[in-house]
Amino acid sequence: MSPFLVTRTLPEDATDADLRADVLAGLTQSPKTLPPKWFYDARGSALFEQITALDEYYPTRAEREILLARADEIAAATGARTLIELGSGSSDKTRHLLDALTDLQTYVPVDVSETALRQAGHGLIAQRPALQVHALIADFTRGLALPDTPGPRLLAFLGGTIGNLVPAERAAFFSSVRSLLAPGDSLLLGTDLVKDEATLVAAYDDAAGVTAEFNKNVLSVINRELDADFDPAAFDHVAHWDREQEWIEMRLRARTAHTVKIPSLDLAVDFAAGEELRTEVSAKFREEGICAELAAVGLEPVKWWTDEAGRFALSLFRA
Ligand code: SAH
Ligand code: AVI
Repeated sequence: MSPFLVTRTLPEDATDADLRADVLAGLTQSPKTLPPKWFYDARGSALFEQITALDEYYPTRAEREILLARADEIAAATGARTLIELGSGSSDKTRHLLDALTDLQTYVPVDVSETALRQAGHGLIAQRPALQVHALIADFTRGLALPDTPGPRLLAFLGGTIGNLVPAERAAFFSSVRSLLAPGDSLLLGTDLVKDEATLVAAYDDAAGVTAEFNKNVLSVINRELDADFDPAAFDHVAHWDREQEWIEMRLRARTAHTVKIPSLDLAVDFAAGEELRTEVSAKFREEGICAELAAVGLEPVKWWTDEAGRFALSLFRA
């Protein structure tokens, strides 16, 4: 087998059909919403990488700190021969795990972004020629068909991306993750933690405006893919901390009343002045809550680590 294999588990036109269904449903309901997975075309993936380097965006640095400190412990506790990573993006932090997992034979990065997977995969095989890299272009919320690879398997879901699923999606996701794990397999989960509002809002509303660009990129994706006429400049970026739900909501607020046309859906969408479109939730967690959600699907906590400042957690669970 070639050391770098890319498999698409969706038909070629599935992304288009999914986007059309999500846009139609999300923009005809009140309040209007869009699922965050549509941020990540090539430009969105590049903007996310820029976000990870911002002073205000602490999660990537905090998770890297934990990975650097704990990668050997993770390797010893799991003995993984296969690492599966959901929403792997650039796989940049993953390198710390790959360095520590001495028995590792196969890495399976899974992402909806083909550009991110290809860039990351080529970089990895250049540096690790002995590692089998089997990239999977797939939506991790749709039930995954994983390649047959040697156990024990470590399934990693890093970056706090779990927080981008709303609670009902999260429960379904954890249950599907559980069904992928055999006895002896593990789940490594990165979760951003509840903290003061000012730190959280700054992380999602940076001074340089990169997160605002990232947020508005979803409108450019819809313009390109569905021939819509969104004017990104007609919207303001909003990052709102919802104290009750304990999540950040990213929204796009219409500056004036206007209508957006999406001819390929035969749709005209009216925005009132000040109306907000929700583009993402980013939930923040507490240890008790996340352990209870995983216990509900039969996954037991093995370890809970945080960075020194207690901003972010990495936790290990076993079936
Ligand atoms: N894990 C990396 C990247 C996080 S960005 C890190 O910690 O830095 C979130 C990644 O998840 C993006 O690469 C995006 O394309 C991917 N993603 C988002 N929703 C997805 C879905 N439903 N299925 C598969 N990948 C998804
Ligand atoms: C990918 N995910 C964990 C990021 C987050 O923090 O929720 C996406 C993001 N949205 C705005 N900034 C970063």
